[in-house]
Amino acid sequence: MPAVAEQHRVLLGEGHTPLVRSVAIGPRLGIPHLYFKLENLNPTGSYKDRFAAVLVSELKAAGQKVCIATSSGNTGAALAAYCAAAGIRCFLVVVDGAPAPKIKQMQLYGAEICMVKGFGKDPAVTTGVFNMLEHLCRAQRLPLPISAYRYCPSGMQGVQTIAYELLEAMERNVQHIFVPAGGGGLTLAVAKGLAQYGAAVRVNCVQPEGNDTIATPLRNGAGAARAAASSATGISGLQVPSVIDGNEVILSCRASNGNGYTVNDRRVFAWQQALAQTEGIFAEPAGAVALAGLEDAVQRNEVGPHEKVVCLVTGSGFKDMLSVDTYFDLPPVTPVESAQLESRIQYFF
Ligand SMILES: Cc1ncc(COP(=O)(O)O)c(C=O)c1O
Repeated sequence: MPAVAEQHRVLLGEGHTPLVRSVAIGPRLGIPHLYFKLENLNPTGSYKDRFAAVLVSELKAAGQKVCIATSSGNTGAALAAYCAAAGIRCFLVVVDGAPAPKIKQMQLYGAEICMVKGFGKDPAVTTGVFNMLEHLCRAQRLPLPISAYRYCPSGMQGVQTIAYELLEAMERNVQHIFVPAGGGGLTLAVAKGLAQYGAAVRVNCVQPEGNDTIATPLRNGAGAARAAASSATGISGLQVPSVIDGNEVILSCRASNGNGYTVNDRRVFAWQQALAQTEGIFAEPAGAVALAGLEDAVQRNEVGPHEKVVCLVTGSGFKDMLSVDTYFDLPPVTPVESAQLESRIQYFF
C-alpha cells in the first residue's frame, strides 16, 4: 500500500483473489487457456475493496472523521465497510435505481445513504450533484472518493494490484485481458499496472452497447472518448455516460495493442447464467461483461486458441438479486409435504 504508515492501514483481507482456469466456457469458445480472476471474492464482493483499502487508510492517517462519497453501489459498499473498520462516519450519495442489496449492504456497515432522483441518469442532475459535492469536500478539505484516476489517483494504485497479481500467477505468460468498463478507471488501472512491469499483454475494454463511451472510439482509432446524453444499459456499475478516465483508457489500451468491444445486455445475462451453471461462479451482471467481450473477440478472430486469456469477474451475484429474479425465470420454491419428497427426488433422476 502506498505511503501509509502501518498503524493507519485499514485492511479486511482484500486482494490476492483466486485465478481459476475455465472448465467449460473456454473449451466451448475454442479458448482452452481461459482464466477467471475472481474479484467477486473480495471482502465486500467487488474489486472496489482494493480502492477503499488505500483511500480509507489515507483518511485515517490524515485523522479524518468523516467520508463523503458517491456510488452506483460497489464503491459505496466498499467504503462503508472500510470506514466502519476505521471508525470513520460515512455518507453515501447513491445513483437513482442502485440495486437494493448494494444499498442494504452499505446500511448494515453503518453508512448514511441518500439516493438522489435522476442522479446517474439525468446528466444535468448528475453534474450538479458532483459539482456540489466537489465544492463541499474542498471546503471541508476532504477527498471525494470516486474510483477513477481523475478524482483519486492514489486510491486507484490499490486497483493496479490486480495486474501485479495476474502477472505473478501467470508467470507473465498471458496475452489478453478483458476488462468491463463504465468510466474506465478499472481498465486504466489494469493497463497501468501491466505497463509498469513492461508486460506485453493486450488490455481489452468491454462496455455495454448502452454505455459505449470508450469501446467504439478505441476500435475506430479515435483519439478521445465520447460522453453520452444518458446511459441506456441495465448493467449496474457500468452506467457512466461521462468520460472520466476514458481518454487515458483509449491511449493505454491502444498502446497495449488491445481493442474495444461492445456487448448487448442480453448476452451479458446469458454469460452471467453460463458462469453460474457451467463454472460455478456467481457474478453480478457487470462481472460477466468481460466474458461477453471475449465472445465477440472470438467471433472476430481477434483471439486465438494458443493464447492465454484472463477475464475479470468484478463483482458478486449477491449484489444484484433483482436481475437474477428478472432475467432468469427461476421457478418459485414453495414447501411441499414431506411425503412428497421421495417422488420429487425420483422425478429428478
Ligand atoms: C462490478 C463492477 N465492474 C466494473 C466496474 C467498472 O469500473 P469503471 O467505472 O472504473 O470502468 C464497476 C464500477 O462501478 C463495477 O462496479
